[in-house]
Amino acid sequence: MLLHIYKDYNTLASMAANEIIGVIKSKPNAVLCLATGETPLLTYEMIAIQAIDENVDFSRCTFIGLDEWVNIPPDNEGSCHFFLEKNIFKPLHILNSQIHLFDALEKNLEAECRKMDKTIRENGGIDLMLVGVGMNGHIGFNEPGVPDNLYSHVIALDTITQSVGQKYFRQSTKLQSGITLGLQHFMECRKVIMMASGIKKSLVMRKTLEDKVSTEMPASMIRKHDNGVVMLDEEAAALLKKD
Ligand code: PGA
Repeated sequence: MLLHIYKDYNTLASMAANEIIGVIKSKPNAVLCLATGETPLLTYEMIAIQAIDENVDFSRCTFIGLDEWVNIPPDNEGSCHFFLEKNIFKPLHILNSQIHLFDALEKNLEAECRKMDKTIRENGGIDLMLVGVGMNGHIGFNEPGVPDNLYSHVIALDTITQSVGQKYFRQSTKLQSGITLGLQHFMECRKVIMMASGIKKSLVMRKTLEDKVSTEMPASMIRKHDNGVVMLDEEAAALLKKD
C-alpha cells in the first residue's frame, strides 16, 4: 500500500484526477468503479476538464456503481445515481450502454446483487476502484463488522451512516439500508485509490492506517490490498504518526 499526503484538498484532487486519467490512458477499455460523496467531487470536475484538454477518450470504459441507498429513486438528488449522472456521466458523455448501476428500487434486491456480480465478472473484473471513507470507516456501504468475503449485498446502515448521509439530501430522508459492492470486490479489483480530506476524517484515517486491520474498520482492509493507494490531504493525515 502506498500513502501520499498532499498539502490541501485542491492538490489531492488534482493528483487523484491524474491517477485516474493515467489508468484510462494505459487501458482505454478499463472497468471503473467511482465513489460518490463530497470527497471526490473536485477530482471529477478536474477529470472532466483534463479529459477535454488532453483528449482522453472514455468511450470504451465501463462504469460500475459502488453503492446505492435502498428505496431512493435515481431522480432524487441525494441518490448515488443522480450524483454520478451529474458529475461524471454527463460531463464525460458516457453512454447508458457503458453504465451498470444498482437499481435500488428493484423488488428483488438479491437478484440485483447477483446481476451486478455477473456484470463485473463478464467485464473481466474491476480495474480501478476509487473510494472515500465514511466517518465510521465504511467503504461503499460496507459497514463496520461486515464479513470480508461478500460480493454485492444489501446491508442495514449503521446509525452514523444514516445521520451523516442526510447531508446529501435536501430534506430529512429515511436511510435504512444500502446495496453495495462487497469487500471481496474491493480486494479483487486491480487498483484501489482511497481518498480522504479534512480534519473531520483525521481520526478515522488514523484508525484505518494505524490500528489493527479489521472489518470493524472496513477501510483498513486496504492495507491488505496488493495495489492500494491512499491519498490524503494534510488535514486528514493530521493524527498519523510522523514516520
Ligand atoms: P464523503 O463520504 O466523501 O461525503 O465524506 C465518504 C463515504 O461515506 O464513503
